[in-house]
Amino acid sequence: MSNIKNIETVFDPTHDEAARQRYVSVLRKRILLDYARDMKTVYDHAIEPRFVRKNGRKPKTGNEVRKEMLVQPIFQEWSALRHNAQLMTWWSVQPEIERKLPEMIQVAKDASDANPAGGSLRLDANVDIPQTVTELDVHLMPGCFHSEHVADDVAQGAVYHHGTRVFSGGLAHRHRGGWGATAANALRIKYPTFRPKTYLDLGCTVGREMFSVMDVYPGMESHGIDVGAPCLRYAHALAEATGRKVHFSQQNAEALDFPDNTFDLVTSSFFFHEISVKSSAKILAEAYRVLKPGGLMINQELPPVSLVSGPYEDFVLDWDAYYNNEPFYYQFRHQDLQKKFVDAGFKAKNYVQFRVPNYGTWSDDLFAACVRGDAVPPEVSNGQAWFSFGAWK
Ligand SMILES: C[S@@+](CC[C@H](N)C(=O)[O-])C[C@H]1O[C@@H](n2cnc3c(N)ncnc32)[C@H](O)[C@@H]1O
Repeated sequence: MSNIKNIETVFDPTHDEAARQRYVSVLRKRILLDYARDMKTVYDHAIEPRFVRKNGRKPKTGNEVRKEMLVQPIFQEWSALRHNAQLMTWWSVQPEIERKLPEMIQVAKDASDANPAGGSLRLDANVDIPQTVTELDVHLMPGCFHSEHVADDVAQGAVYHHGTRVFSGGLAHRHRGGWGATAANALRIKYPTFRPKTYLDLGCTVGREMFSVMDVYPGMESHGIDVGAPCLRYAHALAEATGRKVHFSQQNAEALDFPDNTFDLVTSSFFFHEISVKSSAKILAEAYRVLKPGGLMINQELPPVSLVSGPYEDFVLDWDAYYNNEPFYYQFRHQDLQKKFVDAGFKAKNYVQFRVPNYGTWSDDLFAACVRGDAVPPEVSNGQAWFSFGAWK
């Protein structure tokens, strides 16, 4: 362990700040669980039956459901509340981060001067930051992932790190697990002989999910790339303070500077739905290039339209595409994922996908049964379960 301060602990809310953050978490829980359940009841008892009377059949697509729901007061209210709660998520952490920013910057500098865990940080002021990051505040996070307001800025990393805690704070099953722990433990059970030695995470932001993967496969040479410098500085400080050796670099995943056949494992999480279809094709081709033969690329995402239980669930999952500044979300969910991997060079037979419960929410036995296909995991919503997809090279 290191003697540099953990950047995470600089965030130390006052009573009022903590109360505001907790309020937003609970508000989101109310909207996403309780209110969403009420909206589904209205749909089941009034809206779908009316559609059936008019059309002689049930809705077939999320868009058909959406058309009906757009004019319903319960949807309008739910959607407006959800949009506002999303804005409040970031606003609830920003004043504190502004107050603590000089100290956070100093801690990040100390981390990169001392590098106690042996990792590194390589920034590139000329990196090609895609318009999909620069032109809109993705998921309504002010300043997105890349903005810098002062020298050596880490604010956007801090806003993402602490804001996403508020975001998922009301969802009890999200306190443990997360995708990194879930996917890595699923891989460990599914492919017991797979022992990656070299690892790359694409769009790592503040590194949280990749750290969980590293904890399951210790000793890997680990790299995290992202286009956002403030996030990378923050990630590096977190890694060094927690004894994780990671080499972070500021790169666009469409054109990586790693040699061919470098990595046994390439991952991404919450990444592809924020990328255009055209860009994701280039990124998959790059992943194929940098993977070693026999290596695995595995990613986390919202499940594609073909894998959700019905049009109503599709309508709910696509909400972010319309109201949360995530314009590629809808297109992402409507693609043939296996074909995308084949187009990038992978063999169709090497494509893999699985849905497993959040690690730590269910017992280890039940988790393992889901991984083996002997038990049915819950739906992917509100972090109860995760959908992973990828391919072996
Ligand atoms: C939602 S975040 C990913 C979150 C992170 N993987 C996690 O699990 O906490 C998406 C990240 O992708 C990065 N990004 C977007 N386009 C990119 C690109 N073309 N190359 C590299 N990073 C990119 C953004 O800067 C952002 O940090």
